[in-house]
Amino acid sequence: MERNELFWVGVFDQMAQEDYVVIDNFLKEELVTKVMDYFHQQEEKDVFQKAAIGSAGNELVINEVRGDYTFWLDQHRDLELAELFAAFDEVKSWINRLCFLSLSDYEFHLAHYPKGSFYKRHLDQFSERNNRMISMIIYLNKGWKNGDGGELRIYPENAEAINVEPLFNRCVLFRSDTLEHEVLTAHTDRRSVTGWMLYQPSIIAAIRP
Ligand code: OGA
Ligand code: NI
Repeated sequence: MERNELFWVGVFDQMAQEDYVVIDNFLKEELVTKVMDYFHQQEEKDVFQKAAIGSAGNELVINEVRGDYTFWLDQHRDLELAELFAAFDEVKSWINRLCFLSLSDYEFHLAHYPKGSFYKRHLDQFSERNNRMISMIIYLNKGWKNGDGGELRIYPENAEAINVEPLFNRCVLFRSDTLEHEVLTAHTDRRSVTGWMLYQPSIIAAIRP
């Protein structure tokens, strides 16, 4: 489907009503293949780090809270992923245009949940740094099936909890400030590109008192 203005109006309308929205077949086939190749290359280089909770300077690794490994992307270094950054830019522009926000930046990492890992219920905003506005995840789990686990479980304020299956090339967007969510235990390797649309560049927000 062509992603015209009407498409994005539908997306953000749903996000406004339900706090989250799912877009399947998000990236072009060729691009999602490139992202997977890049993911595997980085895994071979052993650059992933045990994920922490908290923002710069306040990170804590707490295994009872989350067990994923992450690798932060950098637009200026990861030139192979230029088209992926273009896709992030496109989403950011549509949010600004249709939601009257002024998002100025984003931050994304590759995330790997090994078998047995999870991320307990949480919000994506930090108490000392609240510039994450929209959380955005693209799942890379080819052939995901029931029983593989790793569902994203979201807790809308006025509705029952909902499980979102981490299906290949599925994108989920949700509000970072209000929507509590968790990652259920993965029973097989679970991979995603996960990030946040930011209200201000993270570096500025991070050094603010
Ligand atoms: C996170 C998170 C959800 C997911 O990284 O903060 O909640 O489905 N990820 O990977
Ligand atoms: Ni989260």
